[in-house]
Amino acid sequence: MSVDPDKTDIPPRQELFDFHGVSMTHFFTDNWENVQNFQARPDDILIATYPKAGTTWVSYILDLLHFGQISPERQTSISIYDRVPMLEMMLPSVSIGVDLANNLATSPRLIKTHLPVQLVPKSFWEQNCRVVYVARNAKDNVVSFFHFDRMTLVQPEPGDWSSYLQRFMKGKMLFGSWYDHVNGWWKKKQAYSNLHYMFYEDMVEDIGREIDKLCSFVSLSPSVEEKKQITDGVQFDNMKKNDMVNHSTIPVMDFKISPFMRKGKVGDWKNHFTVAQNEEFDEDYKKKMKDPSLQFRTVI
Ligand code: PPS
Repeated sequence: MSVDPDKTDIPPRQELFDFHGVSMTHFFTDNWENVQNFQARPDDILIATYPKAGTTWVSYILDLLHFGQISPERQTSISIYDRVPMLEMMLPSVSIGVDLANNLATSPRLIKTHLPVQLVPKSFWEQNCRVVYVARNAKDNVVSFFHFDRMTLVQPEPGDWSSYLQRFMKGKMLFGSWYDHVNGWWKKKQAYSNLHYMFYEDMVEDIGREIDKLCSFVSLSPSVEEKKQITDGVQFDNMKKNDMVNHSTIPVMDFKISPFMRKGKVGDWKNHFTVAQNEEFDEDYKKKMKDPSLQFRTVI
């Protein structure tokens, strides 16, 4: 996301609109034809998540696993959002996701998306690309999204917490309904074997174990020492201090309101949900999450 110094005026907060049945803003639909026509390569790795589910964390891990040893200079010279571009993004004053992805000189190319599964460009499936999906429990996900929308000045106006939570339950969020997103990708996993479905809570619980699973998915075997370096580097406190991954260089984010690397915990929802909100949320959740094989943990 290279910032063009001539165009650093911050655009206004965006409005959501319906786009093929999914709430979106223009910054993620304006380049739609090029997004849909994107030509994936067989060794591309697509990192897909609902916003705020651990995209940056997994992107950083995969980047370190693939390129940490062979091009260590990347780690200090290129921000994570340029190493792992977001395909559908088209923010004024920054580069365009499709162009960034097309210009990646690495093999594999690591590409990020928040799109629900039905909107992913078909070439990823045609090329049988590896896909890593990360899901996070709904309660912590909505809390993280709320703070992100407060601090990211081009996101739709979040309003107060209580109305935000109602909007989340209705699926009127950027990139649509959390419920549809995690379920849609879960169903895809049943039919498409090159998809590794991960949970944020498992990563918080035991990042070493989750890195091992990722390594086996992408067929890499780091040395013990390399794995230790990666495990240390991707700890929350280390990422928070690392300007190449903490998003501190993005002009549309106001860290005085809330940092991008905010808490990194499972269970912060308890500091936001009232008892009544929690009861209402649980009732509604049961109606929407009917597949018993997809289970989330809200505490670990
Ligand atoms: S985005 O904007 O959609 O790309 O955001 P995303 O990276 O998906 O999610 C941001 C949340 O992930 C947390 N995070 C981490 N938690 C634990 N450990 C590590 N290393 C880590 N890296 C990122 C980040 O703090 C955001 O969650 P919250 O709950 O807001 O802290």
